[in-house]
Amino acid sequence: MSEKRLRIEGLSKSFTVGKKVIDALDNINLEIERGEFVTIVGKSGCGKSTLLKIISGLLPYESGKVAYDGHEIREPGPDRGMVFQEHRLLPWLKIRDNIGFNLFSLPKREREELVGSHMKKVGIDGFADAYPNQLSGGMAQRAAIARGLAGNPEILLLDEPFGALDALTRIQMQKEVLRIWQSEGTTMILVTHDIDEAIFLGQRIIVMSERPGKVLDIINAKNLAYKNRADADFARVKKKVYKYFFEEEMPDLEYTL
Ligand SMILES: Nc1ncnc2c1ncn2[C@@H]1O[C@H](COP(=O)(O)OP(=O)(O)OP(=O)(O)O)[C@@H](O)[C@H]1O
Ligand SMILES: [Mg+2]
Repeated sequence: MSEKRLRIEGLSKSFTVGKKVIDALDNINLEIERGEFVTIVGKSGCGKSTLLKIISGLLPYESGKVAYDGHEIREPGPDRGMVFQEHRLLPWLKIRDNIGFNLFSLPKREREELVGSHMKKVGIDGFADAYPNQLSGGMAQRAAIARGLAGNPEILLLDEPFGALDALTRIQMQKEVLRIWQSEGTTMILVTHDIDEAIFLGQRIIVMSERPGKVLDIINAKNLAYKNRADADFARVKKKVYKYFFEEEMPDLEYTL
């Protein structure tokens, strides 16, 4: 049996705002294997969230093809989970019900067990009965990550999931996502502005151009895996990515620890 894969062919996406047409994505071609951890870096506005929303099935597209396991993606499905750039918790639901939002078809007990174990994983147990506005920004984002994980999707799409976290929690959450990836075999597609994070987490790093987003490069970082940030190869890849965004060389000081 062939492995399930996500296949994107010739995907372009434009938005019409008033009379203006905004080209967001331009001829994206990608193949992502089941169980891969892929990261995407690119400047603000280059179409990263648009790409994830199309893969999630939330956003329609007119040109190109996006298919998972041979089936064209046209709507959301339980095989794909998404953690949005902003937490998008529902303010009128307790944290336990937000995290269990996609699990209402399960028996209550099973749902509660799943919610409880995921709250522990992201370090917010004890806040099951709180409402989103009673959590800090970082805690709310962790709840959103738990919601994405709880449905046990085959593909988890993570859009800047750690942006609202403090530096220490961020490292802790990176490790947790890696642990879950290793134990569950979930395909992870993670967008980040942070080049270090992209190299630390990604087996392959997709570098996108400015808008309209094109794939500039796909860097294989498998052998750097998880991964000494002070390693010379790590620094070499970091320099390579940096070059796509800045004219000048990356200053040495930036990557020595
Ligand atoms: N629903 C929409 N309607 C109109 N234009 C949109 C819509 N969504 C995105 N765009 C436009 O498409 C372009 C890409 O947006 P997108 O949110 O995908 O960028 P991004 O790479 O995720 O940026 P950031 O790093 O700031 O999150 C932007 O110019 C944006 O204004
Ligand atoms: Mg975005």
